[in-house]
Amino acid sequence: MTNIRKAILPVAGLGTRFLPATKAIPKEMLPIVDMPLIEYAVDEALDIGVKEIIFVTSPDKYSIKTHFERSESLEKKLLKKGKAQLAEKINPKKYKSIKFHFIVQQEQIGLGHAISLAAGYIKDEPFAVILPDDLFVSEISCTKELSMAYFETKNSVLAVNKIDANQIHKYGVIKPGKINKNLIEIDDIVEKPNKENAPSDIAVCGRYILTPDIFDFLKHVKEDKSGEIQLTDAIRLMSKEKPISALLYSGKKFDCGSKLGYVQAIISNALNDNEIKEDIKKFIKSIDWT
Ligand code: UTP
Repeated sequence: MTNIRKAILPVAGLGTRFLPATKAIPKEMLPIVDMPLIEYAVDEALDIGVKEIIFVTSPDKYSIKTHFERSESLEKKLLKKGKAQLAEKINPKKYKSIKFHFIVQQEQIGLGHAISLAAGYIKDEPFAVILPDDLFVSEISCTKELSMAYFETKNSVLAVNKIDANQIHKYGVIKPGKINKNLIEIDDIVEKPNKENAPSDIAVCGRYILTPDIFDFLKHVKEDKSGEIQLTDAIRLMSKEKPISALLYSGKKFDCGSKLGYVQAIISNALNDNEIKEDIKKFIKSIDWT
């Protein structure tokens, strides 16, 4: 095997930090300028050659499924108006050979639980996990870097980045072992440690390549204090039995599950959009900061 063929995109979270916007619209459908977050995540998977996308959704997130279905009627209307470019955007050719699967996580009892539901689709091959609410921007995508590291090591690889000590309690945090260029061996990993007990300032950040035996470790994970099954706890169990690597990601990362990260992502992408960037710059310059 020379590339990762399957990716799990967990999108079942309640998105409480974005209520009321996320009452009827999943947070993954919020647009970054003119493209929903979820499409960036799918494109990142396609970029490494993924052919099957497994969404783990909550019961009411119909719009994600609709977004990835062909819309013949809208395409016809756009073509009639001479808008072929837009027609390609809504029914892109790149999705023709991709299988989209949808699994419902009835109760939001953690990312680890969400991942475990996809075991039947993954079977016995390595796979990518992409959390769509983290938007990553770099020349070589984070998932591509991870997949290259996977084929080099044949171990599970997680993306990590340095986090301010005051924010560390929100993340899975690694205890680093040996470092080889940008790859760090994981000695231990803990979910949401407090600042005082955190083993480092290096946190897991929304992108993984995992070997399929993670599903066996997930079976042994117990609920945490908040009743959730954490993926980090399964990775911790796995790290006791076999090497796992962390890849220090050096590109830009926006936590679009938070208001601050979401607004930053929109500004950053708008400044890369040739159609509007000069006007956005003028607008920012014209703001009265007093
Ligand atoms: P978050 O921690 O961001 O939670 O989940 P959330 O519910 O989406 O958002 P807030 O905190 O209430 O605002 C991280 C990722 O794990 C998925 C989410 O969809 C997101 O991609 N997740 C989380 C699930 O799929 N199922 C769960 O039970 C929990």
